[in-house]
Amino acid sequence: MKKIAIINGPNLDRLGKREPEIYGKATLADLENALRAEFGGAAELAFFQSNHEGAIIDRIAQAADAGFAGLVINPGALTHTSVALRDALLGAHLPTIEVHLSNIYKREEFRQKSLTAPACVAVISGLGLDGYHAAIRHLLKA
Ligand code: DQA
Repeated sequence: MKKIAIINGPNLDRLGKREPEIYGKATLADLENALRAEFGGAAELAFFQSNHEGAIIDRIAQAADAGFAGLVINPGALTHTSVALRDALLGAHLPTIEVHLSNIYKREEFRQKSLTAPACVAVISGLGLDGYHAAIRHLLKA
C-alpha cells in the first residue's frame, strides 16, 4: 500500500477554534477521520502536525527515507517565510501537493507569496478540507 504523509504546520492544531470564519469549524481530528474514511483502504496515511519548523523539516526527511509515495502539506504561515522548509521539500524528491484551506490569493499581500509552492507539484488553495481529499486522490493515481 502506498504511504502518504499529511503534514500540517503551525496553528493547524487549533482548527475549529481558530478564526472559524476563515478556516471553518472542523477540527484537525475531523479532517484526519474524513481522510481515513475515504482513503484508509487504499493508502497508508501518516498524519503529522507541528508548530515547530525544525520538527516539520525532520518529518519530511524521514518520509523521504522511509519510501513514502507522496506528501500533502499545509505549511501554515511557514508557507510565506520558510526557505528551510522549501529546501527540505526540494531535497526530499517526493511528489508534494501544497494545500491551503483558505484562498491565499484573496487575502493579505504577505500571504499571496508561497516560498514552498515551487517545490511542489501543485497548490490547492481555497477549497477548505476538500483540498486535502483532492490532493491525496491525485497522489494515489500517480
Ligand atoms: C493557511 C494560510 C496561511 O496563510 C496561514 O498562515 C495558515 C493557514 C491556510 O490553510 O489557509 O496558517 O495555510
